[in-house]
Amino acid sequence: MIWKFITYFVRKLNPETAHKISLLSLKIGFSPKLNLIVLPTTIKSINFSNPLGLAAGFDKNAAVIKGVHHLNFGFMEVGTITPLPQYGNPKPRVFRLNEDQAIINRNGFNNIGMIEARKNLVEYRKKNPVGGKFIVGINIGPNKNSSDRVNDYKLLSQELSQFADYISINISSPNTPNLRDFHEAKQLKKVIDAVKNGLVNSNKNNIQVPIFLKIAPDIDDISLDQIIKTAHLQNLSALIISNTTIERHSSLQSKNIYEIGGLSGKPLFMKSTNLLSKANQIIKAKNYSLQLVAAGGVSDHYTAYAKILSGANLVQLYTAMTYSGPMIGDNIINGIISLMKRDKVSDLKNIRGIASDENIAIKMAKNGIQSV
Ligand SMILES: Cc1cc2nc3c(=O)[nH]c(=O)nc-3n(C[C@H](O)[C@H](O)[C@H](O)COP(=O)(O)O)c2cc1C
Repeated sequence: MIWKFITYFVRKLNPETAHKISLLSLKIGFSPKLNLIVLPTTIKSINFSNPLGLAAGFDKNAAVIKGVHHLNFGFMEVGTITPLPQYGNPKPRVFRLNEDQAIINRNGFNNIGMIEARKNLVEYRKKNPVGGKFIVGINIGPNKNSSDRVNDYKLLSQELSQFADYISINISSPNTPNLRDFHEAKQLKKVIDAVKNGLVNSNKNNIQVPIFLKIAPDIDDISLDQIIKTAHLQNLSALIISNTTIERHSSLQSKNIYEIGGLSGKPLFMKSTNLLSKANQIIKAKNYSLQLVAAGGVSDHYTAYAKILSGANLVQLYTAMTYSGPMIGDNIINGIISLMKRDKVSDLKNIRGIASDENIAIKMAKNGIQSV
């Protein structure tokens, strides 16, 4: 209750100030201290205590990982980290769409850069080695003005992979001009090769660090097909579907809808789940071992469950935490467990991807898997 109350007041502040306060309170330990609820999930060699994660963008500098431990997420993704420090776009650059339970951001990879972020990771890993109970993915992206963006990915994986349970390649922020060009198969292969070269060159020869790829929701079927094929051929572990959207649906209500940037939160749910579901069908049909991580509009246990029914092994959220507060991880995991009881499901892998599309998935989540 107290956290709802605090969230309500913090939400009155401008979004970047509110975010700074959240980070500070996690840093000093003024945050819920929950006992981890275990709902084991595995992707390749990584064992997740539960399938719910905090998405990239919340802790861009890997500064508050320890604080997030107690919020009942099974994992988090820090970053996006770039090689050099970067201020990002001029402020204001984050906008709430209260009526739509959404956010538009055009941050532009504001972060302290890989050398400073590495110091935070060194500190964190002293007591929390890779492969522990709480999984930490490191999300990487190039500097806006870099003369060689592909090489940026290599430098980042070289510098940071030894601290990562997985590396997440971000090619999908809409706020770095032309970054999404890396969705094209040949360009994508160059990026993945660069990340792999970085792994080979890294201190501990971390060639085995799993690689995830985070993609945009604003792509067509042909592009999705090519990305999946490339990811499979390159032996990537997972696709994260998706980043924020540049689309503005006519149903949006808030005055901020015309702000430039990526839209996240509730209005992204159907779009990102549609793409997730399509990816799941392709992967199943081709018998690929690529796994799926869902992000986009997860706001409660129904939407999280619907992502799993649409094919997700793991589910991430960010925007909903800014609206609902730090108890959201706990509420969603408890809610998923109650839905599993309702549906007499002992293991999430038994229902993963059983819905044929996102509409069926949400109906099944709301009314039971037998209802459709
Ligand atoms: C303020 C803000 C900043 C974000 N920054 C990043 C980022 O740096 N890197 C990234 O890969 N995704 C970033 N994201 C996207 C989220 O990780 C997530 O993919 C997206 O918001 C959809 O999930 P949601 O609807 O639960 O927020 C950001 C999102 C928000 C709202």
